[in-house]
Amino acid sequence: MNTKYLYINTIGCQMNVYDSEQMVRRLKPLGYEISPSMEAADLIIVNTCAIREKAEQKAFSFLGRLTALKRKKPELIICVGGCVAQQEGRMILERVHNVDLVFGTHALNRLPEHIRKISLKRCRISDVEMTKEIIEFPSEIKPGIEDGITRFVTIMRGCDNYCTYCVVPHVRGPEISRRPENVVNEIRELVEAGVKEVTLLGQNVNSYGIKEGLCSFPELLKFVNEIEGLLRIRFTTSHPKDLSEGLISAFAGLEKLCSHIHLPVQSGSNSVLKRMNRKYTRELYIDKIERLRKISPDLAITSDIIVGFPGETDEDFKATLDLVKEVEFDGLFTFGYSDRKNAPAAKFSDKVPDDKKNKRLQELLELQEYYTVKKNRALIGSTALILVEGFSKKQGDGDVQEGFTGVHWTGRTATNKIVNFVDENFLSGDTALIGKIINVKIEKAFSHSLLGKPVDLKGLPVGITGEESYAA
Ligand code: 5AD
Ligand code: SF4
Repeated sequence: MNTKYLYINTIGCQMNVYDSEQMVRRLKPLGYEISPSMEAADLIIVNTCAIREKAEQKAFSFLGRLTALKRKKPELIICVGGCVAQQEGRMILERVHNVDLVFGTHALNRLPEHIRKISLKRCRISDVEMTKEIIEFPSEIKPGIEDGITRFVTIMRGCDNYCTYCVVPHVRGPEISRRPENVVNEIRELVEAGVKEVTLLGQNVNSYGIKEGLCSFPELLKFVNEIEGLLRIRFTTSHPKDLSEGLISAFAGLEKLCSHIHLPVQSGSNSVLKRMNRKYTRELYIDKIERLRKISPDLAITSDIIVGFPGETDEDFKATLDLVKEVEFDGLFTFGYSDRKNAPAAKFSDKVPDDKKNKRLQELLELQEYYTVKKNRALIGSTALILVEGFSKKQGDGDVQEGFTGVHWTGRTATNKIVNFVDENFLSGDTALIGKIINVKIEKAFSHSLLGKPVDLKGLPVGITGEESYAA
């Protein structure tokens, strides 16, 4: 079989990253390998995101850039997958003449069949059919680990929550969970291929398995925790209304579960939360944070906040600022509200003008920057266990730092903070440290990373294994 080249542009969330990897896996039997460049590709896929208008525009501008390439290489196959594909379907074929295939979020397993057909007949296809079953990928195709020791693993798809601003339930369909044995087997295969850390993905991991009568999410975590050779477990995302006592306790009981939770609050105002259909109050959110911190005082907590939701008053926004001051998040993802087709809030009155939205966004960012830096600075002088992920191009948040010469490595703490570190004794290009957990003394703090030096490492990392470090 001739090798053909595949190029994927992945836009959006971790779920799309996972789906793109699965596309690569499904296209291997057809002879497709990852392309060294976009120009060399025989097949280009853009895996799209519909969460905000900007992400959607990004997909169309990428497709626009492919016009010249297709003119030079008419046999090039161009595909659009993911959430915008699901939402727009055939419209994309009409709007962008270059596109050969539009395949929605439930059509992943039919991708190879469509590509085969297009290669033979040069037809144009749109497949946005939704299925009721969970999408499992054929197990005979083993995961190909090109590089990296961390991977995302989707444990459930879709969402039943219908927050009024959100397009996800409409483009990914109702919530459905994978069987625990399939999740565990997939992680085992990944570990055999060299992976050390997995992030379990779902729109609301707390409701994992409930509908299907499978095990609970904390039980699934327990199974994953038992996988030999796996060093760390993360998960995202947790909905505050469903955050259970069982999951809160898991932070104290499971040694591989990292001390970090991403718990999107979206707003600090009860009236906004109500109109968002979030089904919790700020008081309940703060209560859950207190419970988490009681059981796990070092737990890092990050969140998502939407600014400028329709009808958000100055007072509502102040309630959000107050919540940020009260909770002191380790990090925050902030978004300006964006109207989405199919999401009920698009029809809400009292839209907040862009200039007001941007001003509020700026104020929130500045406030959070203060807490992020404060929390990072508090770590100076401490020693943290870092899972080494690879080499780092940066030393601080960009600038060269005096006294830090040598090979630079990068990794993360269990609390998900990026730590770059140096050790003059390591030879450049020696990859022996990658995938190991080591102790690093933090010496400098920036807003997006920390900088330090390894402790107790003399020369090469002989005898350092992840397991030993955990016992330390
Ligand atoms: N506008 C702005 N932000 C949004 N998000 C989801 N939908 C919208 C929207 N219409 C944000 C939420 C969510 C994150 C992934 O994206 O904060 O948690
Ligand atoms: Fe969207 Fe709400 Fe579901 Fe999250 S929980 S995916 S914000 S509808």
